[in-house]
Amino acid sequence: MKVFVTGGAGYIGTHTLLQLLAAGHELCVFDNFSNASPVALTRVRQLSNRDFDLVEGDIRDAATLRHALADFAPDAVIHFAGLKAVGESNDKPLLYYENNVTGSVNLLAAMDAAGCRRIVFSSSATVYGEAQYLPFDEDHPIAPTNPYGRTKAMVEGVIADWTKATPNASAVLLRYFNPVGAHESGRIGEDPRGIPNNLMPYIAQVAAGRREKLSIFGDDYPTRDGTGERDYIHVVDLAAAHLAALEYAASKTGCEAINVGTGQATTVKELVAAYERASGRSLPVEVIARRSGDVASSCAATAKAADLLRWRSEFGVDAMCESSWRWQSGNPHGFAGD
Ligand SMILES: NC(=O)c1ccc[n+]([C@@H]2O[C@H](COP(=O)([O-])OP(=O)(O)OC[C@H]3O[C@@H](n4cnc5c(N)ncnc54)[C@H](O)[C@@H]3O)[C@@H](O)[C@H]2O)c1
Repeated sequence: MKVFVTGGAGYIGTHTLLQLLAAGHELCVFDNFSNASPVALTRVRQLSNRDFDLVEGDIRDAATLRHALADFAPDAVIHFAGLKAVGESNDKPLLYYENNVTGSVNLLAAMDAAGCRRIVFSSSATVYGEAQYLPFDEDHPIAPTNPYGRTKAMVEGVIADWTKATPNASAVLLRYFNPVGAHESGRIGEDPRGIPNNLMPYIAQVAAGRREKLSIFGDDYPTRDGTGERDYIHVVDLAAAHLAALEYAASKTGCEAINVGTGQATTVKELVAAYERASGRSLPVEVIARRSGDVASSCAATAKAADLLRWRSEFGVDAMCESSWRWQSGNPHGFAGD
């Protein structure tokens, strides 16, 4: 299949490229490198021993996007491109709406012009907002609590409307829980710029000695050990879910939102302990006050992914930490080391 991959140079994108290439798909990556390095794509080429097209461009630039899609004439699109920092989205909401929402509208228009009717979209569990019940199933009310989450909910709505209005169109909205870990080679992984926004890359940098200690926001939540718990999903499992979603989209029309998680919640303290085992290092932590906006628990219902995609996660938290540490210790400065 010919697959056009927006944001393919990023963390989840590069892991997915490897599996797409291994499965024999023909690819065109479209990325503006606003949060990625071309080195990551060089490593994907080395690891896969395969080549693919690359267009350096911005999804906000409708003309470039239209030309790229028309030239490549894909059977399907995987749409990773987007900004993803919750805190930054509070400070710069218009940047997020323009990048994530306008960029996605441009993409669908370019797909229309190129006659492409299949899309897999990177959504997020953030669209659910505060849990009314757990685990989150796909029918849980959508009530995001920040601009980033609202961009994801809006794009889901735009894609659903586009699917209804476009004959034979099919869309899968993958609602990721907490992607972590790295490819087993240790050659690609998450390479955050500045202070990591997420727990796992922060822990990784503490283990590597790049940060002094981990601050845990609150240990008085109603969980096993009082620290917040999340559903972490290995990025290699997540990549596999995209291949399953592509196959599903090729076999059906319509629009489906599907969770991608493990169904298991891990607390902050449990994740730190797993990382200590993986790295063989003891990690300094301090417990500080709760952070506003954080919830006690989040966890995915996984039945829909199993039913429709025939996909289930394989890897547990130890494998997530081991692969993260292999990447972190082998690339202490991420892709900038090359
Ligand atoms: N990592 C997570 O925790 C997480 C969780 C839920 C959903 N998601 C979503 O999954 C997608 C991929 O996430 P990721 O972790 O790989 O992030 P990432 O930042 O590593 O990858 C996103 C890629 O999109 C590119 N990009 C951003 N804006 C662009 C634009 N306007 N035009 C062209 N390219 C652009 C970036 O350069 C980057 O390569 C994002 O849409 C994100 O919101 C991520």
